[in-house]
Amino acid sequence: MKILIVGTGYVGTTTGLIFCEMGHQVTGLDLDETKIKALEAGKLHFYEPGLEDLLIKHIAAKNISFTKKTKKAVKENDVIFICVGTPQGTDGSADLTFVKNVAESIGKNMDNYKVIVTKSTVPVGTAELVTKWISESQKDKIPFDVVSNPEFLREGSAVLDALNPDRIVIGTTSEKARGIMRDLYKDFHCPIVETNPRASEMIKYAANSFLALKISYINELARLCNRLQINVNDVSKAIGLDHRIGPHFLNAGLGYGGSCFPKDVSALIQIARQIGRPMSILESAAKVNKEQTDYFIEKIKQALGGNLQSKTIAVLGVAFKANTDDTREAPSLVIIKQLLEEKVNLRVHDPIVKLASGQFPTVAETVTGADAVVLCTDWDDYKTLDWASLKPLMNQSYIFDGRNMIDKSLVESLGFNYLGVANH
Ligand code: UDX
Repeated sequence: MKILIVGTGYVGTTTGLIFCEMGHQVTGLDLDETKIKALEAGKLHFYEPGLEDLLIKHIAAKNISFTKKTKKAVKENDVIFICVGTPQGTDGSADLTFVKNVAESIGKNMDNYKVIVTKSTVPVGTAELVTKWISESQKDKIPFDVVSNPEFLREGSAVLDALNPDRIVIGTTSEKARGIMRDLYKDFHCPIVETNPRASEMIKYAANSFLALKISYINELARLCNRLQINVNDVSKAIGLDHRIGPHFLNAGLGYGGSCFPKDVSALIQIARQIGRPMSILESAAKVNKEQTDYFIEKIKQALGGNLQSKTIAVLGVAFKANTDDTREAPSLVIIKQLLEEKVNLRVHDPIVKLASGQFPTVAETVTGADAVVLCTDWDDYKTLDWASLKPLMNQSYIFDGRNMIDKSLVESLGFNYLGVANH
């Protein structure tokens, strides 16, 4: 099948390349020339393990090409996936400007039947809006169908997630489009949930919000455990063994970040408020998430005698989570901002995220002379650090583990003062 992917970000590029793996012919369309040039040269403009190999493979096999030319791209493809960003608007709701622009350009340029699929996370009712925007932009009435088919991949494991989804959701009222979508996904071995577009749109928000809720639950519980001198990791592990709860998304930390959870929770809160049915549970989850970095900074302050001014602090990890260079809504940025407000001498390290200096100092360089290390990202590199060799480089030996990922007894045996999120 000839597929057009509009928007070559994380979701678009991964989706396109996974369809290549499934034997389809893909074109990636983006208005950003630098992205197109990079992708044509086999270079990703973001970090995602394993994806660049797929890109190089499918460029060589001529299964994928990239373009800036909307008109030609729309005309030549049968199925068009909208994978552009839906950033958070000023009131917390999703901003559909990019989706609208794409819908209008499809309407203007199509000259035969198309299936238009929204992959981007969009509010309930967007498929109807996309239908309206396309119809209104058409010169002649050419038939088309709109399908909602949300993406559930995670950054950092996008290729594996997209190749092995837990489920595929297809939301459409058109039998013809449903048939085409089934065909497109025929080689995937997972349940396919067929529903209408509104339910499909809600499923994505409901899934992300539920996972965010789980994280806020464990983070708030962690604060309680901290007061009660309980290791929250023990609690997570034990409750996660209950199959009704499950072990995932129960790691207490600095709160959820990234391009999806904060934005999607906020958008669902907005949707609920707008129709007069506020979701207090989600409003609380968002509040708990916001408080989590304050809670951790307070812990650091108390341990270091109440005043951080002139202390040298090494922040390890800027990315919002491991295996990505994405810093959108990263808790590290909130921690860094607060530390700077406290006038600390700040050092920062990340294995992948490019710092403003353009340099990549080593962990040893970053912690030299530091009074404390603050671990913000759960990179594997940090789980296996040789703390014995780092300790002599430091001025004072505090470790603040914002991810509960270091072996407390090991570092304590080396003479470190260790504090996790709630890691007694
Ligand atoms: C998420 C969804 O998982 C994915 O299905 C959707 O398509 C996009 O949004 P992503 O944002 O890439 O994916 O990352 P994810 O692994 O879900 O983590 C989100 C945030 O929660 C990160 O900040 C992570 O560090 C945090 N997190 C996750 C925790 O704090 N604790 C956990 O137990 C799990």
